[in-house]
Order: sequence, then C-alpha cells, then structure tokens
Amino acid sequence: MKNWRIMFVDDDRDILSMVDQYLKMQGYSVITVDSGLKALDIIKDQQVDIIFTDYKMPEFSGLELLAAIKKYKPEIEVIIVTGYGSMESAIQAMKYGSYDYLQKPFKLDHLKLIIDRIIEEKKIKRAEDMIRKRSLQRHRYHDLLGISPKMQQVYELAETAARTNSMVLIQGESGTGKELVARTIHAVSQRADKPFVPVNCGSVSETMEEDRILDHVTGLINTVGNGTIYLDEIADLSPGLRLNLLQALEREQRKTGERARVITATAREIGELVQSGALQKDLFDLLDALLIKLPPLRERREDICLLINEFIYKLCRKHGKAIIGVHPEALDILMRYHWPGNLIQLQNVIERALALEVDQLIRPGDLPSEIRTFSEISKLG
Ligand SMILES: Nc1ncnc2c1ncn2[C@@H]1O[C@H](COP(=O)(O)OP(=O)(O)OP(=O)(O)O)[C@@H](O)[C@H]1O
Ligand SMILES: [Mg+2]
Repeated sequence: MKNWRIMFVDDDRDILSMVDQYLKMQGYSVITVDSGLKALDIIKDQQVDIIFTDYKMPEFSGLELLAAIKKYKPEIEVIIVTGYGSMESAIQAMKYGSYDYLQKPFKLDHLKLIIDRIIEEKKIKRAEDMIRKRSLQRHRYHDLLGISPKMQQVYELAETAARTNSMVLIQGESGTGKELVARTIHAVSQRADKPFVPVNCGSVSETMEEDRILDHVTGLINTVGNGTIYLDEIADLSPGLRLNLLQALEREQRKTGERARVITATAREIGELVQSGALQKDLFDLLDALLIKLPPLRERREDICLLINEFIYKLCRKHGKAIIGVHPEALDILMRYHWPGNLIQLQNVIERALALEVDQLIRPGDLPSEIRTFSEISKLG
C-alpha cells in the first residue's frame, strides 16, 4: 500500500491531522495540504494516485482543483468532500469527473473503503496494460520469426529501413538470416514490385577476374533498376574493387536516372573489419549506413521452439509428409545446443531428423551425436 499515495486537501487543519493520523496508521502513504493551489504545486512533480479535496475552500475551490487535475493529470482519481446536505455540489462534482463524493462529517472507514476500491481498480488496470504491452511483442515480422527482445529490435530497424532509402549494412554470423532480413526490407518497402538482386561478393571475387567482375556487376545494376541490390559478404571484396563497384553503381544509375537501394551484409564484426583494414575509408558510406545486427541463435534461445515448428511445417510440406512433433527430450537437447551454424544448421538438423524419424515424433536418437553430447556436457556444467 506504501506505493500508492493519497492526498487530502482541506482548509480545516483539524480534519487534516485526523485523516493523516488514521491513514498512516492503516499503512498508506499520505500527504495533507491546506490549499488547492499548494496541492496543484505538489502534483506537478510528485506522484499522487488519489486526491480527496474539500469542496468549499477560500481562493481555489475543490471544483477548480478537480477541473485542473482532470485536465493535466487525468490518471489521478479525485473525490470531492462536500458539506452536509449539499447534494447539488456533489452532483456537480460528479459531472466534472469526481470519482465519488464523500459527505461531511464522514466516517474514517468510509474513507478507507473508497481508497481500497480505487486501488483495486487501478491494480486491475495496470495488469491489463501490462498484458496489452506484452502482446505488442511480435512473434513474427513478415517471414522473420522470433519473440526474443533482440529480434524485436531487428523488426524495428527493418521497419525504419523499409520506410527510407538509406543504405543498410546487416551484420550477423553465418546463417543468422541476413538475406531474409534484406528480402523482408525489400518486400515491405515501396520497391516491393521491383527486382531484388542478390550478389554474393565472396564467390564472385573467387571465381572471376577483377575487370570481369565489374562487367558482371554493371549488368546486375541494370537489372535491378529501382529495386534492391543485396551485396552479400561485402568484406570479401578487396577495398579497391569495392570502391570501383560502388562508383560503377553511382555511374550506371546516373545514366539511367534510376536509384536502387543498396543493402550490404557481412558475417564479420565491424570493429574487427576496420582494424584489419578490410573496411577502409572507401567504405565510409557503409559505415554511415543503417546498421542491423542480427543476434546468433544462442543469444535468442527463446526463439528455438518457434523456429523448429516453422522448419518442420515447411519441410514436411515440401516433402509431402504429415506434420510431426518433437519429443520433449529431443527439444531439450536442441534448446541447449550452441548452434555455431545458426538457423541454417538448425534447419539441416531438422531435415535430417525428418528423414530418420519413424514414429511421428523426432526423438533424441534422430539428432546428430555431437549435438546430443553437447547437451550431456552442458547438463554436467
Ligand atoms: N527470423 C527467421 N525466421 C524464420 N526463418 C528464418 C529467419 N531467419 C532466417 N531464416 C531462415 O534461415 C535460413 C538462413 O537464412 P539466410 O540465408 O537469410 O541467412 P544468412 O545470414 O544470409 O546466411 P549466410 O551466412 O549463409 O549467407 C533461411 O532458410 C531463412 O529462410
Ligand atoms: Mg546469406
């Protein structure tokens, strides 16, 4: 009860001291004030939940105080205390938003009754607000699944990115869903009906000569038009080639008058890239890009269950099988694992288990032995 504050406003000091004593004895936190103006001053910067105010006071009447509170702090409940037989003022006060009225002379336990009723109502309302807030936590954003706080941040950033045209840099370990995030941003943005063109800079730089790469990429730039170009493994390109590539993009687009959105991705830590020299001043634009960090799966274990269900559903449909379940022991093992290969590894493990599964349930025996062993060891630790 101490975290609910009750204020009593009256110009009669005897009433104030009586109420103060009684409510404190009952364990409430109380402030008593002898004028409406002083009361307003206090609630400006102090938390007060319930205010009882006398109707008739010199300077500033209870009704004026009520009106001011309802305007500036409508969440505070106000109860007007009226003189005996002044039913009219009570009715008037109710019209102004008084929660109830209390007629003088009042019994102290009547005062307590009103307070307890309001506190009960406020508690219920707080609980409802909490539930509403929690249900705002999304378990998916388009094709991206995840209820974890880290994924909520990813959803927010993806939404921001979709609204703007800024360059985006997605950083996340292999298999964390970088390409899916890029595709989601594209699908939510105004470019959704334009092409999404992925370029794997890693494989391009391994298999092609430098000048062939530029030709190749220039071709892709023309395909993408006003769509989205996704440059994966951007750190695998040499700094010189990267600069050439971004300049080619600039040049081609100036020619055609089109403006593609550029989304880049890297599995390496940004700090480490700058330190090693792999990310230099030529990529100043990239550093200026909106950065989306994708958490590894081991940092969002609460999403594992959701993802397993999704993968089972998709894979069973793909192979024309009936949807199957996961044995609790197998689920426990999957939840404990550290998933260095992230979602791709989880997907592979599920696919393999589906191939082995014999009785409509994925069991521990259907999981790779290193995953089972890891779980055993982590139990000991
Ligand atoms: N949040 C998610 N919810 C559901 N499925 C996801 C999610 N993120 C990724 N996936 C799925 O996981 C797989 C791997 O995702 P993706 O290819 O986007 O990862 P990546 O980070 O680009 O991987 P790589 O490092 O191999 O390039 C895909 O099948 C993708 O559909
Ligand atoms: Mg990828």
